[in-house]
Amino acid sequence: MKLLERVIQDAQSDQKRIVLPEGTEPRTLRATEIILNESIARIILLGNPGEIAQAAEECGVNIKGAVIVDPKNDDRREAYAKEMVEIRKAKGLTMEEALQMLDDPLVFAPLMIKCGDADGEIAGAVNATGDVLRPAFQFVRTMPGVSVVSGAFLMFVNDPHFGHDGILVFADCAVMPDPNEQQLAEIAITTAKTAKAIVGMEPRVAMLSFSTRGSAQHPLVDKIVNATEIAKRLDPELKIDGELQLDAALIPEVAKLKAPDSEVAGRANVLVFPGLESANIGYKLVQRLSQAEAIGPVLQGMAAPINDLSRGCSVSDIVNMVAITSNQAAALFE
Ligand code: ACO
Repeated sequence: MKLLERVIQDAQSDQKRIVLPEGTEPRTLRATEIILNESIARIILLGNPGEIAQAAEECGVNIKGAVIVDPKNDDRREAYAKEMVEIRKAKGLTMEEALQMLDDPLVFAPLMIKCGDADGEIAGAVNATGDVLRPAFQFVRTMPGVSVVSGAFLMFVNDPHFGHDGILVFADCAVMPDPNEQQLAEIAITTAKTAKAIVGMEPRVAMLSFSTRGSAQHPLVDKIVNATEIAKRLDPELKIDGELQLDAALIPEVAKLKAPDSEVAGRANVLVFPGLESANIGYKLVQRLSQAEAIGPVLQGMAAPINDLSRGCSVSDIVNMVAITSNQAAALFE
């Protein structure tokens, strides 16, 4: 796959420090060996060093070259706890509570990033999405000008006529259960940025609905129309249209009938769904019924790249996600 090859090459040219909090997890260890052998990134594994060494031996992998950090016995705990107390002072977090929280690798990892000791994080092979995201939301927080983190999927479909040579970006498939109009507008803008930064496509964003250009009247339709207007105000250069039904967004013949003047309809490459239910179901439908490859969720809008794996992930999913996270980290400094 050409895009992934390019993403991996870019990661190799600027090896970022990626922290993997699930340091004893077998797929994570196998991925670490590949990443180190192929010089894709510098890896920091979190956990008890003896347990990590034993797990690596049981998997038969060589992780020499990975930096092993034990969150329970690290010299930086005090400094990280001070940072946490400062960030959460309005919430009354105490030093004692912060030090206790740091025992959890899912808290330690975002603090490493916050304090400049790592460039990105990936977890979720054994932990639920919420447990990976909550400490990231609390301590790394969102980018300036963005209030909401969301999750995009890169969808590689088998027909090059769709999207950007067969690649489409779907969002938000992973985070916000029921975004409001402002949040949906932000999701559209950050997804367009992800599409440009990772795929290199010129984004054409369709704001999806069950209605096209007023064909149905309903508060749910108004929400999409208003979100589209907000997105246009926030980013006047963005090519975005809504509300559009899926067929009007993707099929030129339908677009000619339903939205003939649109520069997006019929050739959209970024699909923004109305909510997490439709987006999560939608990407899995495409993935399973048409054997499309789905890469993600790529989390967007966070002040530093932190990505969540599916618990069903494969070793190559982890390797690919490390490369994508490295690219996101590099993009932050451009
Ligand atoms: N962006 C930025 N910050 C956020 C977001 C967001 N999307 N959501 C919550 N936060 C912040 C809150 O503002 C709050 O900050 P504060 O403590 O400083 O006030 C903090 O995170 C915790 O907020 P809660 O509302 O308590 O969030 P909660 O922990 O209840 O939920 C979560 C957050 C876990 C991400 C929730 O939205 C969720 O479960 N989403 C669905 C995740 C999921 O299951 N996805 C599908 C599976 S993934 C897949 O299939 C690929």
